[in-house]
Amino acid sequence: MRFHVMTLFPDMVWNGLNTSITGRAIEKNLFELNVANIRDYSTDKHKHVDDYPYGGGAGMVMQPGPVYDCYQDIVKDMKKKPRVVYMTPQGQVFSQAIAEELSKEEDLIFLCGHYEGIDDRVLDEIVTDYLSIGDYVLTGGELPAMVMIDSISRLLPGVLNNDVSAEYESFQDGLLEYPQYTRPETFRGQKVPEVLLSGHHGNIEKWRREQSLKRTLERRPELLEGAELTKEDKKTLEKWEKSRVNAKKIK
Ligand code: ADE
Repeated sequence: MRFHVMTLFPDMVWNGLNTSITGRAIEKNLFELNVANIRDYSTDKHKHVDDYPYGGGAGMVMQPGPVYDCYQDIVKDMKKKPRVVYMTPQGQVFSQAIAEELSKEEDLIFLCGHYEGIDDRVLDEIVTDYLSIGDYVLTGGELPAMVMIDSISRLLPGVLNNDVSAEYESFQDGLLEYPQYTRPETFRGQKVPEVLLSGHHGNIEKWRREQSLKRTLERRPELLEGAELTKEDKKTLEKWEKSRVNAKKIK
């Protein structure tokens, strides 16, 4: 997989991803990160890449020319037109399902806007996906691009040390992850759940699944609708619902 980032702040993207797990994965050539500076494609003698908006209004707009030339330079040797993601709060909200879908691409281009955005004509021409990382406004698309690259890259073979952990973490089957514990066995009077010390794998699996269900029900109940629930899960949820209703009656 090759990630290409078009930005006015290449150091921000490079420094953000060249550390920790993604940094190690880049070093091991598990994926490529190509960061292109849009400013390098300015034809202006002062290297300007923005101008006032037609029709007036606050702020500056990024001009289409440098963005288009930067894009052409990235795609010049590609056999097929890659997906181009534009980071914007006006886009579809990014999710684990979208990360999984994008992780299957060979090349992915992320276009980061700044100021009041980018001239719409170049977006029309090159962008295939408009994505947001949530309903709040940031100063630019770099952080969203890093968020997306981080979550896509951890799905690529070899990026996480053990392939199992990508499978089991939050949002697998659409449920939240169960709680985790490590040493010491007792911390400030709180003991690790007994079942985890039992060595009985069947019971541990069952307990963890129930904890995932419980967490999802308590913290993100809306996720249960889209979750892949087994017969056993459904029975557990029904049992909890019954005891909740009974507890209400007793009150
Ligand atoms: N650019 C500014 N805010 C953003 C957001 N929430 N998601 C994606 N891109 C953005």
